[in-house]
Amino acid sequence: MNRILITGAAGKIGSTLREGMRGRYAVLRLSDIAPLDPARAGEEIMRADLTDLAEVEGAMRDVDCVVHLGAIAGEDTWDKILPHNVVGTWNVFEAARRQGVHRVIYASSHHVVGFYRRARFIDQTVAPRPDGVYGVSKVFGEAVGRLFADKHGLSVACLRIGAFRDKPADRRLLPIWLSPRDAVRLVGCCIDAPDYHFIVVYGVSNNRRNRYRNAGIESLGYRPQDDSEDYAADILSTPDLEDAISRQFHGGLYAQMGFDGDLARIE
Ligand SMILES: NC(=O)c1ccc[n+]([C@@H]2O[C@H](COP(=O)([O-])OP(=O)(O)OC[C@H]3O[C@@H](n4cnc5c(N)ncnc54)[C@H](O)[C@@H]3O)[C@@H](O)[C@H]2O)c1
Repeated sequence: MNRILITGAAGKIGSTLREGMRGRYAVLRLSDIAPLDPARAGEEIMRADLTDLAEVEGAMRDVDCVVHLGAIAGEDTWDKILPHNVVGTWNVFEAARRQGVHRVIYASSHHVVGFYRRARFIDQTVAPRPDGVYGVSKVFGEAVGRLFADKHGLSVACLRIGAFRDKPADRRLLPIWLSPRDAVRLVGCCIDAPDYHFIVVYGVSNNRRNRYRNAGIESLGYRPQDDSEDYAADILSTPDLEDAISRQFHGGLYAQMGFDGDLARIE
């Protein structure tokens, strides 16, 4: 893999990958609609709006692998989710197919399975149970990935990212935390792994309270190093702000009727 395109590169995960992967590949091409710092050695900046197929195809030229992060990154209105997450993701896979890109790594979310009971351990083979419009858009993205793998031969990884934070901020995040270092490790493994057809992976750190099982992905070589337990004592000494509904489901607050994306109450 020589030229890696990152969509949504100006965002939180994109900025972390930009730093963490610096110098690892011949070229990191960074794309977003938001402004990006000027390119350094080994970087290219290319603005592209994911809702515009021609722009996305332009960003895809001579690319070996796409890390597709660009999206509305949480619950929102259908009016916003539709263009950025649904149309945008279709455009990324279609542009990759047209440009002969070998591999797409898709930032999915644990909200694809947010309506499973938290008491239950789940792996990636369970049927989707999205907990909101955002989760539905990520189910769509995984389905598009499967289609383009099966029909067009793209190599596709869908990462059901838990909660990417510098450190876990509350009880719900203890099982699902993904540290910045582990995010770089995970995406690096997905870029570098020898050929795979279609894989789904839970993107979490090595959390003692983890409720996800990444069945059968040993070949990926992902060995997370960080553990949210290091923060557990502090978090558990503060009041539990989760309500009775949120507490029951993997998706937490997202599972509540009427949740509109305002996380301020809990984080
Ligand atoms: N942060 C998390 O905890 C988490 C958890 C699960 C999944 N994810 C997924 O990971 C990805 C990255 O998350 P993040 O936390 O870095 O989000 P972020 O909001 O910080 O970054 C998303 C980026 O996408 C860009 N973007 C949005 N619409 C675009 C468009 N039409 N064209 C081009 N760029 C567009 C935004 O400008 C932004 O820079 C998202 O797909 C998100 O759904 C994140």
